[in-house]
Amino acid sequence: MPGGVNSSTRLNSALDIPVYASGAVGGRVRGIDGREFIDMCCAHGAALLGHAHPAVEEAMRKAAAIGFVHSFETEYHEELARKVCENIPCAERVRFCSSGSEATLHMIRTCRAYTGRSKIIRFEGHFHGYHELIYIGGHPPEGYRTKAGEKPFIESPGIPPAFADYIVPVPFNDVGAFDDAVERYGDDTALVILEPVNFNCAGILPDPGYLEHLREVTKNRGIILFFDEIQSSFKKSIGGAQACFGVMPDVCTIGKSLGGGLPLSAFCGKAEIMDTLKPVGSVQHSGTFNSHIVPVLAGLAFFEEAEKPGFYMRLREIEHRFHEGLDTIIHDLGLSMIAPHHGARFNILLGRDTPALRYDETFCHDVTLMRKIIAACWERGVYFHDYGGGPLHHGYSIQHSDEDIDMVIGVLGDVLKKFRDDLM
Ligand SMILES: Cc1ncc(COP(=O)(O)O)c(C=O)c1O
Repeated sequence: MPGGVNSSTRLNSALDIPVYASGAVGGRVRGIDGREFIDMCCAHGAALLGHAHPAVEEAMRKAAAIGFVHSFETEYHEELARKVCENIPCAERVRFCSSGSEATLHMIRTCRAYTGRSKIIRFEGHFHGYHELIYIGGHPPEGYRTKAGEKPFIESPGIPPAFADYIVPVPFNDVGAFDDAVERYGDDTALVILEPVNFNCAGILPDPGYLEHLREVTKNRGIILFFDEIQSSFKKSIGGAQACFGVMPDVCTIGKSLGGGLPLSAFCGKAEIMDTLKPVGSVQHSGTFNSHIVPVLAGLAFFEEAEKPGFYMRLREIEHRFHEGLDTIIHDLGLSMIAPHHGARFNILLGRDTPALRYDETFCHDVTLMRKIIAACWERGVYFHDYGGGPLHHGYSIQHSDEDIDMVIGVLGDVLKKFRDDLM
């Protein structure tokens, strides 16, 4: 395994190792050295139910009992599709797949086929998966600015430059820049894709009225509005960020926590767009492992948990406890940092006292210092993933106890005090 990992970002650069685990329950993980730590990564947002949730274990037993039947549809697939369409506002039809990257790839293809156009307007700081169609222009290095007619920044070697011809990156929360892009490229643009909560950059929230503006302009220009809710789905509301903000996209992707920790994602949206898929229409979306029965049953278990009356109340309690604790530390120590949050996920941005509005406002974040903070937390039994030291997302699960949260706050208090001079 190159680098000892099966996902390049799994190496924690703050610790200079990938952490090897031997087991996990609730909000805690045990390393192969037997040391237990509190997990504030939670499988990058997939483990919203926490580790080894009894409902997911039960779903896996059920799948084993019916023989891991796959590559067939079952009554459970229908039930899960119904759950998605009942809960996600824009979902009239849904297709399941395994990862977020797969879901965005297929949704993009479907949007292009439906509109007969190829360009994609996207936002700096947003992330939509690692594939050639969209791993372009999201996180350019400081100082790199895409000027008219120039190719946007390609985020991995190996992506042919021609893919960049289809990508139009614009700064988030900038109405003028968006309107200019639509003015210039609107007739060729199939879709506008965004994270409604920019968890992949400092937890930036849309300005009031911004999503409504995107909605209106895309509708007027026949462009598909695509919310990538792979991360934001289910974190604060069972209807995703679109339900929280009251703005309905044409299509969206959902994932991570959808499978209760198992690989399950989906793309969904208006019936007339989704019906361009074969065998109704002519767009190809197939895969041997699409909607494998084990994650499908785990997905049903996830909905059963999330629909319980106390589920979002408990997540809100944890959110309140954690952020009250962290904000008190920041205030008492007089630190220049913030932790924007949306439900069960939050970001840490160093070097600012007020929320950033755009990607370029996050360059104040000191990645070296962030790595030191993460390493010091790890020494004290709390795991934050590093994401290269960037201002990315962390979070907890429904199974994190008050004691777990208090321990994390205690550790953060200690560590932030240690680095106080660097954080002023
Ligand atoms: C908004 C968003 N879209 C897409 C993806 C890709 O998902 P996956 O890692 O499951 O391929 C991610 C992953 O972090 C994400 O946050």
